[in-house]
Amino acid sequence: MRTRPLLLLVLCGGLWLNGYAVAAQGRGLRDLADKRGFYVGAAVAMRPFRTEAPYQETLKREFNIIVGENAFKWTGIHPNKGGYYFADADALVAFAAANRMKIRGHTLVWHKQLPRWVTGGSFTREEAVNLLRDHINTVVGRYKGKVIAWDVVNEAIDDETGGLRTSSFWYEKIGPDYIRMAFEFAHQADPAAKLYYNDYEAEDMGRKSDGVYRLLKELKAAGVPVDGVGWQMHVPNGFHITEAHRRNAARLAALGLEMTITELDVRTRVPASAADLQAQATAYREILGFCLSQPNCKALLAWGFTDKYSWIPGWYAGLGDALLFDKDYQPKPAYRALVEALRSASRRK
Ligand code: G3I
Repeated sequence: MRTRPLLLLVLCGGLWLNGYAVAAQGRGLRDLADKRGFYVGAAVAMRPFRTEAPYQETLKREFNIIVGENAFKWTGIHPNKGGYYFADADALVAFAAANRMKIRGHTLVWHKQLPRWVTGGSFTREEAVNLLRDHINTVVGRYKGKVIAWDVVNEAIDDETGGLRTSSFWYEKIGPDYIRMAFEFAHQADPAAKLYYNDYEAEDMGRKSDGVYRLLKELKAAGVPVDGVGWQMHVPNGFHITEAHRRNAARLAALGLEMTITELDVRTRVPASAADLQAQATAYREILGFCLSQPNCKALLAWGFTDKYSWIPGWYAGLGDALLFDKDYQPKPAYRALVEALRSASRRK
């Protein structure tokens, strides 16, 4: 009889420590991140944000930073010639402020999600430069002091060559200078915002990451106001951090850049087995642990947070379940892995 209270205590303690209790107790990843002066967050999709209560509840409880999945992109915010649509981005900025969260802006210059009136229009070089300047002034200016970091240029490096992607509206109309210009316009509009170059599959060593490194090195040498590099990290299950990630991070840090894991997800086959979910948890744990081990790595954001809303199934047939919470907003092993990584990391503040 006497051992029962002790047994209960041990059981409750185990439950508490297992990470699920963190969500159940309403503490969330954000409390653990706050204690380490770190930012952990997720991309926000507008439809569930506006229509599903658990979506906002989970965001508020778990994260201290958000990013719009589509709201700040050209198609989202500048859908018509001379006509901006700020309602979605405004709602995210207000939500972040009301809930003591930071917000990143994604993205100002990309070859995708450009409206028809841009890609189908006929612009001289000068007109395209003016278009770029006006857009960046308007969008960055509107959120000056509110958006802490911008993905100014997204995915400008060609997958195969490691040189600049030439099949891009901006490259075609302006030439390679569009990158420098975009950073300069953004800096003029909000000198305090951190300005990022963001890309995918450029995280370990290889032709593409060499290209990203070369670009950033040139921009830095030319005095262009670039502050950080975003590693998207859309990775397959079974992923591990390797020495190549550390080498690439080290050379980027040596340029004086900060970094952020900007779009993390770990796609797995569906339905996922228990072993798949454990492997996924390992990937999440290693990636967060890696970021926490790099003094210049400021934040980790996943590209969504519930498996109910993710770009993966629409893009990769047979794959999905790439995020931290399942379709019922219940935490997965990957969530517990982030709790453990945040708990075991040495203090950063
Ligand atoms: O908003 C329109 C809607 O009006 C229209 O009726 C509907 C019909 O298809 O499309 C809606 O737009 C979709 C948009 O997401 C908003 O939901 C687009 O079709 C769809 O292509 C778009 O996909 C986005 C994709 O970028 C575009 O390339 C994904 O949600 C978004 O997760 C994804 O995010 C990118 C990052 O920005 C950059 N890195 C890679 C990452 C994954 O692809």
